[in-house]
Amino acid sequence: MKLSNRLEGRVALVTGAGSGIGRAICRRLADEGARIAALDRDVTAAQATAAAIGDDAWPVVADVASVDDMQRAVADVAAQFGRIDIAVNAAGVGASALLVDTSIDTWQRVMDVCLTGVFVSSQAQARRMIAQGGPAVIVNIASTNAQQPGEGLAAYCAAKAGVDMLSRVMALELATHGIRVATVGPGLTDTPMVARLLANPSARDAFLDNIPAGRPARPEDIAAAVAFLASDDAAYVTGQTLYVDGGASMMRYPSLASRRAGAAV
Ligand SMILES: NC(=O)c1ccc[n+]([C@@H]2O[C@H](COP(=O)([O-])OP(=O)(O)OC[C@H]3O[C@@H](n4cnc5c(N)ncnc54)[C@H](O)[C@@H]3O)[C@@H](O)[C@H]2O)c1
Repeated sequence: MKLSNRLEGRVALVTGAGSGIGRAICRRLADEGARIAALDRDVTAAQATAAAIGDDAWPVVADVASVDDMQRAVADVAAQFGRIDIAVNAAGVGASALLVDTSIDTWQRVMDVCLTGVFVSSQAQARRMIAQGGPAVIVNIASTNAQQPGEGLAAYCAAKAGVDMLSRVMALELATHGIRVATVGPGLTDTPMVARLLANPSARDAFLDNIPAGRPARPEDIAAAVAFLASDDAAYVTGQTLYVDGGASMMRYPSLASRRAGAAV
């Protein structure tokens, strides 16, 4: 069902498109008229997202942390659709461990996907956008954890804070090319990434107590904000982070006690 023609004629490349927030973003941008390149490292998931959208979507398989993969993916999408007007970098992974227990492998895995993956993806996308000319937009998905520390989330918080600052540097450097860069910071969002946490009653309650809106976000809540930022309605918005969190970043982040009860983000 078409919601609007706000993105008619635009081509959008979305990473992390096989699940949760990335999948909802693909759906929403398509519903507003965009053609979609649905990128994920999970081939089945990328295909499922593209198939659910139909003829206006195309699955792309790539690892966002791989320079070779992302250069190839961006070239393939540009060859398939002619250009890339919108890029949304939503691929991410979580990990939960106290600092003293965090292995270098866990730290590196989170950094590779959540921060290096955004750098690698954005660089390939920006090079293409500069070469093609004309307005374009990159939206990076960070988190409330970019500004709100969470016990047990050192790698994740550090990576997301990095995404926030990287995006602002990109906005500065790319403005003269007509490329806007914005960040969306979701709060707790009901996706497979946090399924274990939401299934744990004490952890869920601890989080809900700290969300003024009284519920986790739906992936569609995040997708609506991304669609706004990707559209001409946000033509004068760049270098900003939009938190979509039901007010949670005004509150305290839930304490370690809830995570000891078996929660993991
Ligand atoms: N769910 C939340 O509560 C929440 C809150 C704040 C921010 N976020 C962020 O939103 C984004 C989407 O999260 P989600 O909740 O939809 O998670 P999800 O696990 O449902 O989906 C993540 C998708 O990213 C893909 N992916 C992971 N590593 C990849 C890689 N190296 N290359 C390509 N694809 C890869 C996975 O295959 C999966 O399809 C992430 O960046 C996450 O950190 C999520």
